[in-house]
Amino acid sequence: MSAEQAAALFRSGMTVGMSGFTKAGDCKALPHVLARRAHDDGLRLTLVTGASLGNDSDGMMADSGLIARRMPFQADARLRRDINAGRVMFMDQHLSETVEQLRCGSLPPIDVAIVEAAAIREDGSIVPTTSVGNTASFVRQARQIIVELNLAMPLALEGLHDIYIPAGRPGREPIPLTSASQRIGASAISVDPARIAAIVITDSADSPSANLPPDDETRAIARHVVDFFSAEVAAGRLSPSLLPLQAGIGTIANAVLHGLLESSFSGMTMYSEVLQDSSFELLDSGQFTFASASSITLSAGMNRRFLDNVERYAQRLVLRPQEISNHPEIVRRLGIIAINTALEFDIYGNVNSTHVGGTHMMNGIGGSGDFARNAHLSIFVTKSVAKGGAISSVVPMATHVDHTEHDVDIVATEWGLADLRGLAPRERAALIIERCVHPDYRDMLRSYHARACAAGGHTPHLLAEAFDWHQRHASTGSMLEPLAEPA
Ligand code: COA
Repeated sequence: MSAEQAAALFRSGMTVGMSGFTKAGDCKALPHVLARRAHDDGLRLTLVTGASLGNDSDGMMADSGLIARRMPFQADARLRRDINAGRVMFMDQHLSETVEQLRCGSLPPIDVAIVEAAAIREDGSIVPTTSVGNTASFVRQARQIIVELNLAMPLALEGLHDIYIPAGRPGREPIPLTSASQRIGASAISVDPARIAAIVITDSADSPSANLPPDDETRAIARHVVDFFSAEVAAGRLSPSLLPLQAGIGTIANAVLHGLLESSFSGMTMYSEVLQDSSFELLDSGQFTFASASSITLSAGMNRRFLDNVERYAQRLVLRPQEISNHPEIVRRLGIIAINTALEFDIYGNVNSTHVGGTHMMNGIGGSGDFARNAHLSIFVTKSVAKGGAISSVVPMATHVDHTEHDVDIVATEWGLADLRGLAPRERAALIIERCVHPDYRDMLRSYHARACAAGGHTPHLLAEAFDWHQRHASTGSMLEPLAEPA
């Protein structure tokens, strides 16, 4: 069927499950024709995906007015604009949880699933492409399925995926996964062919990641994290292969993993949700022996290298449903070392990953909460300042909390790393201020904390003052206190 014919299957108010996870394995044709239908006859849908889409799809669909409701993650400037203006209702969810909520009926069921495939087998089962995301569960639940068969994807992708969906509750058995490299499911998504309503042929690539290369600050953050690992190995708390690593999306987490290339660690594995360029460099260097994730999101050059050598990489790679790549049961069992990025954190180690100024959505929590709460070591990294120094990433009180102090073991900026394990709030604050804060803001935070401690409390705060920094930034453009006028 043509994409235009397939688009006729949709009615306003439907819930659509679309494949795609951090730009990988997203549908290439249907987003365009659905956006056209939104322009022409006002089509409005609830859109559920794995995570953010590539190929400008989220922005283009937002501009058309197609998206009434969206979950569980996005990373697009135009969709973000509509979310923050209240035109799109966005449900920001832990990425492991969306399909659990679909299965138990907490969310409206998927009417139509649109899924990208590298191949359809003779029994009708679908071989995904560069991500699995929530696709297998969408296919299982949807009344109708549209397959986008992407001829640009190499057939060698078949065999890369491991499709396992937990049974319903009560009575669910433990997920039988005890190492990052284990396979526990099928290599394709089984489907009753009677529910396949259309097969649309496409022929275009995933869009490349937009990560910036490491700079002086991200290299310094990476050095602090690697030095911390070395000290843990020397103290006998970690072996030289560490424990399976998870790293979040974005420039900073990618740079931290990049820093491992210059380390002496070997025999490492990754159990993460996204593999970025740095993961492939570590596979190439031999320091990573295996990498498990739900998607592969690469720069254009690295993507070509991967697609041209899938057979070689496939022996050391697996792509799983995001429910499994991020499952709290597995994260706790394997003892993951989780490295995620904060927008800001406060002096006690509460982390805001999502809301600029406490109100405006950036991207979403993604999988960071799935990992942080259950990890063996939960590390959050960020540059100490943003917007040329006008914003301190360490603040008196976080304006929105995605990860509470209880879920955060380590914080690091380019100035240093604070190991918060075993410390009470007052001790955590003293360490964070001395190790992680930019010198321009250090005295301001010392003063705030000293005065808060004088007022008392287990977690001392001056509530009337706690958000002054954010308010000053909103009114003057900087969190810095204005210089006193000469007398
Ligand atoms: N206030 C306002 N803006 C801030 C900020 C703050 N405290 N800290 C950072 N920013 C801005 C940066 O200036 C930058 O803006 P720009 O795009 O206009 O240049 C933007 O946020 C991205 O920050 P950057 O420093 O480039 O880091 P990044 O690319 O590594 O992204 C997050 C950082 C937090 C936005 C990103 O990691 C994220 O969305 N995390 C939540 C989801 C998650 O952790 N998933 C993990 C599992 S995959």
